[in-house]
Amino acid sequence: MTPVDKRPGTPAMRLILPLPGNEIFARRLADEGGWELGAMETRRFPDGETYVRILSEVKDKAVDLVCTLARPDDGFLRLIFAADAARDLGARQVNLVAPYLSYMRQDRRFQPGEAVTSRSFARLVSSSFDRLLTVDPHLHRYPALSPLYTMPTDTLHAAPLLADWIAAEVDKPLIIGPDEESDQWVSAIAARIGAPHAVLRKVRHGDRHVEVKLPDLSKWRGRQPVLADDIASSGNTLIEAARQLPLQGFVRPVVAVVHAIFADDSFQRLAALCDRIVSTDSVPHESNSVRLASLVGNAIASAPDDEGDLIRHRRPPEELDEVKQVGFDSFPASDPPS
Ligand code: R5P
Repeated sequence: MTPVDKRPGTPAMRLILPLPGNEIFARRLADEGGWELGAMETRRFPDGETYVRILSEVKDKAVDLVCTLARPDDGFLRLIFAADAARDLGARQVNLVAPYLSYMRQDRRFQPGEAVTSRSFARLVSSSFDRLLTVDPHLHRYPALSPLYTMPTDTLHAAPLLADWIAAEVDKPLIIGPDEESDQWVSAIAARIGAPHAVLRKVRHGDRHVEVKLPDLSKWRGRQPVLADDIASSGNTLIEAARQLPLQGFVRPVVAVVHAIFADDSFQRLAALCDRIVSTDSVPHESNSVRLASLVGNAIASAPDDEGDLIRHRRPPEELDEVKQVGFDSFPASDPPS
């Protein structure tokens, strides 16, 4: 592991604060940098609203909320509430560490009337955080996050880590991207390990319906195919690609993905067609074999420490007068005290 650059004084003033479900990743990150690991309490009120309480001291600290954004809709308000609470309580900076960044694929209006959710989501996140750090966001029509996000962003790449895993575990690999968009990942992986690569052609007919066509790959027969992609979402892109390879005489593929979302039973359906499936731990999943803590920890340690103070209006912590008047014994409740 690359040692994290621990600048003097930095570890003590940084708090790594996981949202529910992100505790393991956050613990690895905190260990990596020698940073404090925080905790919060969250629950649902009987009416379905969200309760958030930060249990760690955040005052004057750079607070990194760790929250992968796979299946984001359920926990999104909780994340925004936690960011606001950290700021209210005097955090010096409130950053989002999202190893997987959602809402990157609806990046234009494909049909009249559609919401361009990548822009709306970016606006909402940018209004609550000072900085965003993520790994391999799905950049296709946008070349970078900066046209979408109005705060500083760090985009990290897992391709070198996946490449190193492949180099160590797979003999004579042929790196294959299931569609044109995956070219950026497969070419980076192939270049790092000196392996050949190819890209398949995909036509998407719907959320779960894709058609994948193979070019003639016969000159590489005898190599171990490794399907590499950024996201396994419905899983059908990889499933269709894995189905096609034996038709050209290849053995069952190894699959390497950055973000293992794997909706429904797609992991089991893909596993039946593959030799092995590996992923990074950007989304907690049984296929996780490649850890990102070192990559992310190094990026946190080398980010400018005071930029948040320059770009965001700081609002002083406010007195919570009404809560003080009613007393804490009757709060929180699902209805406001009378
Ligand atoms: C698309 O361009 C991406 O790189 C992935 O191939 C895609 O998101 C995978 O989606 P699914 O698993 O739903 O086929």
